[in-house]
Amino acid sequence: MKITVIGTGYVGLVSGTCFSEMGNKVICVDIDQEKINKLHQGIIPIYEPGLEKMVLKNVEKQNLFFTTKLEEAINESEIVFIAVGTPMGEDGSADLQYVLAVAKEIGQKMNHRLIVVDKSTVPVGTADKVKATIQAELDKRNATLEFDVVSNPEFLKEGDAINDFMKPDRVVIGAESDYAFDKMRQLYTPFTMSHERFIAMDVRSAEMTKYAANAMLATKISFMNEMANICERVGADVNNVRAGIGSDSRIGYSFIYPGAGYGGSCFPKDVKALKKIAEENGYEAKLITSVEEVNNRQKFVIADKIINKFGEDLSGKTFGLWGLAFKPGTDDMREAPAIYVVKELVKRGAKVQAYDPKAMEEAQHFYLKDVENVDYKNAKYEVLDNADALILLTEWKEFRSPDFSEIEKQLKAPVIFDGRNQYTTYGLEEKGFEYYQIGKN
Ligand code: UDX
Repeated sequence: MKITVIGTGYVGLVSGTCFSEMGNKVICVDIDQEKINKLHQGIIPIYEPGLEKMVLKNVEKQNLFFTTKLEEAINESEIVFIAVGTPMGEDGSADLQYVLAVAKEIGQKMNHRLIVVDKSTVPVGTADKVKATIQAELDKRNATLEFDVVSNPEFLKEGDAINDFMKPDRVVIGAESDYAFDKMRQLYTPFTMSHERFIAMDVRSAEMTKYAANAMLATKISFMNEMANICERVGADVNNVRAGIGSDSRIGYSFIYPGAGYGGSCFPKDVKALKKIAEENGYEAKLITSVEEVNNRQKFVIADKIINKFGEDLSGKTFGLWGLAFKPGTDDMREAPAIYVVKELVKRGAKVQAYDPKAMEEAQHFYLKDVENVDYKNAKYEVLDNADALILLTEWKEFRSPDFSEIEKQLKAPVIFDGRNQYTTYGLEEKGFEYYQIGKN
């Protein structure tokens, strides 16, 4: 099939590339000329395992193209995906200006029947707005062209996005016509062949599905973080409690790992947006509000433990930090717990020596740009030099089973704050460490 994907951000680039991998002809469009130039040179703007290789291969096979020319692209395509950003507006709702600007341009430039697919995460009711925007432009130029607007939310996890796209748990399609369902089914058949994973529904339910899925996962995490905080106060061990409840198949083991709070581009933004959607429709979403509040508080739990040990004034103290990205496998630092921890420690006079396998540039040039007293080190053991304690915030594989004798040797005193409960089974106390984790004293 011939497809256009508008927006070469995270979702657009991964989706377009994976569609091309299945033999479709895909044109990726972006208004950012420099980004397109770089893609032409094989420079990928984001880090995602496996993506670069797949892009280069499909460009060479002439299945994947990059351009700034939206009109040419859509008029060669049957299906057009809108995958532009929906940043969080000041009031917490998703800002639709980019989505609607694209819809307007589609309405102005389309010259044959199109299926327009909302791939960006958008509030319930956006497909109707996209439809009205396209129709208004068609009316202005007296064009009578048919089109469908379809909702197809994405469920990609950063760091595993290619795998998630190629082998999805489900593909959710919200549409209004058999024509659109048939075309979308045809497009996704290669990805959903092994099982019946194509779930067809009405447009608003598809839009709502995305928010419900992310809010459910965020709720599991905040719930578990709350359990961890209670465990600490009653003398229980959350690691045991997790195993104890996860074995109940109705609860399950996934997404019940306590930590230093969830981050990333999806959960914080979508939880906020859902709260706002409910509010605008006359409903106070109390549970969702609490999920957010628990998470905001959780981001300070590690800093609180550090303050408990070293006191409110941390001047003269140095902390070694492993992990800046919001999770392993990505350079993304959006809403990462590290931002909050580093700022809090530095504010109290401490110096931080940090290392992350991928997110150092993001931290240095963007998220922690204005924060002084952060020293970025080139290797993991270098952060320990003359440090009062080691803090773990992202569970990268290379931090999972470190050389503890090396850590002990280099730190001023053997103290570890583990924000991901990675070292619970290493018997660190017996090895002479002072070991602080989440949900166990
Ligand atoms: C998430 C959803 O999983 C994905 O389906 C959606 O499309 C986008 O949002 P992503 O943000 O890439 O994906 O990361 P994910 O692996 O889900 O982790 C999100 C955050 O939750 C991370 O900060 C992670 O550390 C945290 N987390 C996850 C926990 O604290 N505990 C857990 O048990 C699981």
